[in-house]
Amino acid sequence: MKATWTSPSNIALIKYWGKKIPQLPLNSSISLTLKNSVTKMTIERLISKDELEVNFLFENRENAKFSKKIYDYLLTITNDFPWLMNSKLVIKTENTFPHSSGIASSASSMSALALCLLSIDEEIRDQKFSNEIFFDKASYYARLASGSACRSVFPAIALWKKESELATSFTDVDPLFLTLRDSILIVDEKEKDVSSRAGHSLMENHPYKNSRYLDAENNLEKLKNAMREGDFTRFTEVVEHEALSLHALMLTSTPSVILLKPESLELILKIREWRKTKNIPVAFTIDAGPNIHLLYPEYVSHTVKEYLDKTLWSGKKIIHDEMGQGPVKL
Ligand code: PMV
Repeated sequence: MKATWTSPSNIALIKYWGKKIPQLPLNSSISLTLKNSVTKMTIERLISKDELEVNFLFENRENAKFSKKIYDYLLTITNDFPWLMNSKLVIKTENTFPHSSGIASSASSMSALALCLLSIDEEIRDQKFSNEIFFDKASYYARLASGSACRSVFPAIALWKKESELATSFTDVDPLFLTLRDSILIVDEKEKDVSSRAGHSLMENHPYKNSRYLDAENNLEKLKNAMREGDFTRFTEVVEHEALSLHALMLTSTPSVILLKPESLELILKIREWRKTKNIPVAFTIDAGPNIHLLYPEYVSHTVKEYLDKTLWSGKKIIHDEMGQGPVKL
């Protein structure tokens, strides 16, 4: 018995930062589902004797760290998937994007994992869920594996409300916001030196946590209005404020975490200057790392790419992505 899915990564516009058990977010978040940055995963289920066994291959190589992470996660959901307890799972996975490129591989891989498990579950039970229920369940199980992965199973834009067990699709937007591009300027390819689990826990005793959670909910409302009304200027204000807030929270936590590099700040200043002089709709956002994501509507993509390739980030690494339609069953 086998299932194969591709599932994308996503980039948050309103950032999830801070959670409580069991992996419930302390503020709402919203993200763009990416198109080109995907994980392809195949899970083959073989019947084994009274135990769970996981054989995990990442890009055709065994990876003990991921294998253990997945094994531990699967053990937490055996009540819902009892067949796991007599299964040997051979999991083969590959990404279309480079490791540590500023694109969240846990979002794409953990959503792919949830999708494959559910497809196998459907086959074992000989019962198909409706599409809506299937993707809701996928979002639920992806969340338990990696919070932000719950947003990856929906097309275009996903909303994960505060303290919710799953994300939903967010569609009430002007068509302008269905054509967004995301060009990622790679400042540093090194793996980040703080895991997101450690990052979330820094919020527990953070002096600004209450105001942060209020601010995030206000920002969500502002962003939803801006997107509904097709207002790129207000969209930019909120998205950049969110990106800088995420890093401000890291800078002011104990211990303090500094993930931005001097070049990240230089890029931000140059982008703002260029936007002001040329009046081009382009907004930056930043994930938990130093790389800068540039978001812009498709109709300016020629101008923006030319500026990136010839001037701003000439000769340096850029990954071009755009909004996508979510997971695909192969
Ligand atoms: O899903 P996690 O636990 O890897 O946390 C993701 C946190 C951020 O990427 C910084 C923000 C987000 O909402 O994706």
